[in-house]
Amino acid sequence: MSTDALCWINGEIIPAHAATISVFDHGLLYGDGVFEGIRFYNRRSFRLQEHLVRLERSARAIALQLPHTLAQMADFIDATVNAAKFDNGYLRVVITRGAGSLGIDPRNCTQPGFFIIADTLQMVKAEARQQGARLIIASTRRLPMDGLDPRVKSLNYLNHILARIEANQAGMDEAILLNRNGHVAEGTADNIFLVQNGMLVTPPVSDGALEGITRNLIIELAQRNDIPVQEKSIAPYDLHTADEVFLTGTGAELIPVREIDGRAMTQCPGPVYRQLQELFVAQVTLETDSAMGTGS
Ligand SMILES: Cc1ncc(COP(=O)(O)O)c(C=O)c1O
Repeated sequence: MSTDALCWINGEIIPAHAATISVFDHGLLYGDGVFEGIRFYNRRSFRLQEHLVRLERSARAIALQLPHTLAQMADFIDATVNAAKFDNGYLRVVITRGAGSLGIDPRNCTQPGFFIIADTLQMVKAEARQQGARLIIASTRRLPMDGLDPRVKSLNYLNHILARIEANQAGMDEAILLNRNGHVAEGTADNIFLVQNGMLVTPPVSDGALEGITRNLIIELAQRNDIPVQEKSIAPYDLHTADEVFLTGTGAELIPVREIDGRAMTQCPGPVYRQLQELFVAQVTLETDSAMGTGS
């Protein structure tokens, strides 16, 4: 947390270090809640509507009543971005089940919790961003769809954290989680793409990937620029033998991958990554430039 981080909570924007929530909040006690991570550039939230739609769906999927309308939340987000100490940063919008008794039953919680943090976020070191990240495939598997649907962006990241610990212990930058069928699902906080013979491939959501907003944008940019793209199941073999691999996410933006399980990618950063990275930056500029943008 940076000293400049702010928090919108209970209708006020205060220094984040001074913000508090109850120790009885079920978001804290049980991971019972949902969230969004949103970047802002040039003091404009990027793809805010997409994030709000996903937040509302995540909340509905876990039968969590939204404490505010989406329009109100958008206003609170704008106010937080305007108050931020930096022009470019990262927001964490969190809805918890709220404070209740120690029992797991959500009916104990009468009022959902809601807060927004504005800070900066760097997912990997600058060196990994430029020269490529080094990954392992974790032994920890992505939770099955019939356990917790991966489309729910919930506060429970424990199986991703276990995978990340595996990467840390191996001295690597990030871990890839497989689903229980052994197909590639995603990274611990990002989606994954590979390039093989000029074809861009990413796992379908049904293989355990979050329906990433950056992932969707990359698919859209590829389609608009005649880069062939497919959503299909990926085996570890496909990753190990890919020409290029890269990660995408709001926090990650685009991160090239240079090595997976000790196998070097043929190219890093490769030509398809470079092209999509340029297109991504151009799209962000288009949507967030105050002179020409359409961002909220
Ligand atoms: C598990 C997981 N997968 C993928 C992503 C990337 O999604 P998005 O591009 O919407 O940020 C995230 C982002 O937080 C994530 O937590």
